[in-house]
Amino acid sequence: MKRACVIGWPIEHSRSPLIHGHWIRTYGIDGSYTKVAVKPEDVATFFRTLEQQGFAGCNVTLPHKRAAYEAAAVREASAEAVGVANTMWLEGGRLHCANSDTYGFMRHLTVSAPAWQTKDSPIVIIGAGGAARAIVFGFLQAGVGAVRVVNRTRARAEEIAAHFGSRVSAHGWEEMRSVTADAGVVVNTTSLGMAKQGALDLDVAVLPAHCVVADIVYVPLETRLLASARARGLAVVDGLGMLLHQAVPGFEKWFGVRPDVTHELREIIVADIEGR
Ligand code: ATR
Repeated sequence: MKRACVIGWPIEHSRSPLIHGHWIRTYGIDGSYTKVAVKPEDVATFFRTLEQQGFAGCNVTLPHKRAAYEAAAVREASAEAVGVANTMWLEGGRLHCANSDTYGFMRHLTVSAPAWQTKDSPIVIIGAGGAARAIVFGFLQAGVGAVRVVNRTRARAEEIAAHFGSRVSAHGWEEMRSVTADAGVVVNTTSLGMAKQGALDLDVAVLPAHCVVADIVYVPLETRLLASARARGLAVVDGLGMLLHQAVPGFEKWFGVRPDVTHELREIIVADIEGR
């Protein structure tokens, strides 16, 4: 039997077992996917003994994503670009890592709003944490000409621009209106819009009619940002799809089947979010 897991501290709230459990059943795989609570002081040992524990690999959530990156012997370009990893697997006896948020976001965007690729407009990323880095990298890989990073703490946006080079520019919060006015895609990567948090104060009226608005927040499923963009008639891309698609590469590495992100899978996670 092949075994994989998700590790974090805490880990109770992870929805990854619902996703991978559904795929294990759907594809009739002799495998398991469990949650493992790993304390920060134990994480290096956990990775060192992954194979001995019988795991083919694991997903990694907070606060272990940097430790995962450091523990890997081989890092995919996505992990290298972001400096943190969320997917680990053993290959030829060596621990490999990737950051599948890049794939998850770009795949979901392209499936949900394929027209984004036909416009040569600047991309605006709001926020400058790990998720922002993963998404900036995705757009650069896709060949876009200009990515603007807007962040409350401008210095963090500047770090991202310095890391990725001349196609990426850094902007302060006060520039939100001017940098979004000609945007082809706007992505919220901050926690603004999450249940019990303030909303992101972005005026969708200034966005061009072809602008695609994406949010990585998925609780609630439709943030106020997405609701107002939809009301204006803009294409919207929610955060749940990114969560589902980012799970695909790990599943394929551990269990040898590339799984599909289906409506049925989405409904399972929606029901869990809505407490049904
Ligand atoms: P992650 O790695 O998950 O993307 P992070 O590193 O904690 O998360 O980054 C969170 C992002 O949300 C940051 O860009 C943060 O802005 P700062 O760099 O200025 O802290 C942004 N953020 C969180 N709360 C915010 C708020 N109330 N207003 C504006 N931005 C906020």
